[in-house]
Amino acid sequence: MIKISASLLAADFARLGEEVRLVEKAGCDMVHIDVMDGHFVPNITMGPMIVKAIRPHTGTFFDVHLMISEPERYAGAYIKAGADGITLHAESCGDHLREVVEEIKAQNVRVGCAISPDTPWTVLDPVLPLLDMVLVMTVYPGFGGQNFIEPTLQKVWALRRLYPELDIQVDGGLNEETVGEAVRAGANVIVMGTAFFGSKDPRELVKSIREMERR
Ligand code: DX5
Ligand code: ZN
Repeated sequence: MIKISASLLAADFARLGEEVRLVEKAGCDMVHIDVMDGHFVPNITMGPMIVKAIRPHTGTFFDVHLMISEPERYAGAYIKAGADGITLHAESCGDHLREVVEEIKAQNVRVGCAISPDTPWTVLDPVLPLLDMVLVMTVYPGFGGQNFIEPTLQKVWALRRLYPELDIQVDGGLNEETVGEAVRAGANVIVMGTAFFGSKDPRELVKSIREMERR
């Protein structure tokens, strides 16, 4: 089943409460919360207190994407603030990826691991059995509104063939033009920022994507 996660990075930050209610009303499965620290990526976005502030506005799953160094140091604060899922970057964990995943998993949240476009999916080998989701970045992390990097879908295809039941998320440059090939490659969790918050009819957008079946 296709799941849709709307990225708040493209929302109006002056009206975040209303924007998460819009995400829920449009029928999305998740709110995608992009956390950036200005160190792992050259941008700074939102701390745990923003998550805490928007939590009461919706029951929708909070899909927190940590684009930060030392994710193990901050994951707990986001979980306490209301995160339902934590996705960390393999590139931010060096050679202690497994320990970091285990440490976050022990806090009773869904755990995902993200890989940037230049990172081979095989770096996930030590943790794949522990993961609830893999995030294959389809842009370089740090900013919304970038163009889709199509060759990253080869990683989606390879992972789907080996892990038919795994949630495989794609994130960056997904819209009505690019989502079809991502779904055909095997992605089943679709992040949309610009396409969702820029849509004249978000509800219709969600409906049309959810109806796509992997051919
Ligand atoms: C980029 C973020 C993405 C981004 C997606 O680093 O992880 O979630 O906000 O934005 P769009 O859908 O606008 O490309
Ligand atoms: Zn993201």
